[in-house]
Amino acid sequence: MILVDLYDTASWFTLVIAVQVIVGSTYFLWMKKKGKRKYDPLCNGAPVEWKPLPLVEHDVVVEEPPVMGKIDENALNVGATSFLCLDKDEGIIENALKSLDKYGVGSCGPRGFYGTIDVHLELEERLAKFMQVEETIVYSYGFSTVASAIGAYARRGDIIFADENVWFAIQKGIDASRSTVRYFKHNDMDHLEEQLSAATKRKELNPRRRAFLIAEAVYFNTGEICPLPRLVQLARKYKLRIILDESLSIGVLGKHGRGLTEHLNVPRDEIDLIVGSLEHSLASIGGFCAGTHFIIEHQRLGGLGYCFSASLPPMLTQAAINALDVIENQPDILTELEENAKKLNKALSTLKYFTFRGDELSPIKHIYLKKEDLTDRLKHSYLRNISNYCLERGVAFAVAAYLRDVEHNCPEPSIRIAASRKLNDVNISLLCKLLDEAYEKVGPRPDLQPL
Ligand SMILES: *[C@@H]1O[C@H](CO)[C@@H](O)[C@H](O)[C@H]1NC(C)=O
Ligand SMILES: *[C@@H]1O[C@H](CO)[C@@H](O)[C@H](O)[C@H]1NC(C)=O
Repeated sequence: MILVDLYDTASWFTLVIAVQVIVGSTYFLWMKKKGKRKYDPLCNGAPVEWKPLPLVEHDVVVEEPPVMGKIDENALNVGATSFLCLDKDEGIIENALKSLDKYGVGSCGPRGFYGTIDVHLELEERLAKFMQVEETIVYSYGFSTVASAIGAYARRGDIIFADENVWFAIQKGIDASRSTVRYFKHNDMDHLEEQLSAATKRKELNPRRRAFLIAEAVYFNTGEICPLPRLVQLARKYKLRIILDESLSIGVLGKHGRGLTEHLNVPRDEIDLIVGSLEHSLASIGGFCAGTHFIIEHQRLGGLGYCFSASLPPMLTQAAINALDVIENQPDILTELEENAKKLNKALSTLKYFTFRGDELSPIKHIYLKKEDLTDRLKHSYLRNISNYCLERGVAFAVAAYLRDVEHNCPEPSIRIAASRKLNDVNISLLCKLLDEAYEKVGPRPDLQPL
């Protein structure tokens, strides 16, 4: 009995499937035929013009047209972060062009897939020697360096403590890691300690959970320097790994330009991972991470920006190598930069209509409108008009750009000024005079009602 029943069920099942297959394939063939008749323009005589639908429904208004290309050669450029002015160095340009002749433009592949060229290995070796670490790894884009580096170590379930003013790439790295994140007040080590001890009490920090501390040596968004010794002390006490972004301090701070660790005499091996950039002082493109072999090697398979991006074009790699040569052979240029960073602070403090922020030694300063009762959008618009006014008169500034709805703790609108080695007293007083003049011409009128 049971056998017959089973047999019956099975055959019913087969029948249903067979019917489905026949109906399905007939329908498919019929649709195909119908489709051919109606829609195939190439088979039916005259080709029909193809009109793609727009990707975006409305016209996109570009609020921030880029100023690049508008700046003429003789303008005073205090927007670019090439602090040591190595982007104009004849020797570096010449060598980069030679490298272009030898290798061509692109490297045609990621480092792990036929994209490694001798200059990449040379640059990594030179950077390791310069930073006095075991090993470095070079990425082909500054933004993705720190964003990839964070994701290479921090995972879901880990916990990250980060300064509330870290720049956007770090925020994206933290997002991508999917770790729990706690932001502490900008450069406020007491607040960090409060958070750490609270997290310990709540058992959020425990020996089984990996914990990270992320900070910038010089903050891109505020121009302020991080209190590194205290940070290291807290990290050791609570057993956190430190990731320090030294993008704006390498080639700037320290006797040899090795960054904040050198400047404050913090042993390099106290910092688990140092992230650097080739895009500021070193006047090229890309970034790098520095640390022990054990830590860096992990990124060669775990750093997404390293594994899946074409490697740095050889000529830009060569440019970075030669920039290192210049910094090593002429450490005086670091002193020149430092002098100018200090002079800028002195001059900016005399501005009538603006306040500013930025450490004396920091090459980055932010200038804010003194007038407080305006919306951020309006402030931004005024700063934009002020910088346009100055650009027409030969001084180029950068209005800091943020993704207002996406950034964590979006900073107040500001003009970002970068100190550079070639500024002189005349240039500095000119830029201050112009700023106040621009405010009087296109800035908010004193009688303006707050919105
Ligand atoms: C900066 O100062 C130097 C020396 O005084 C001068 O030659 C140069 O034109 C100045 N740059 C600008 C843009 O004013
Ligand atoms: C900035 O300049 C533009 C063009 O002249 C003007 O339309 C706009 O109102 C100005 N912004 C402010 C806040 O005054």
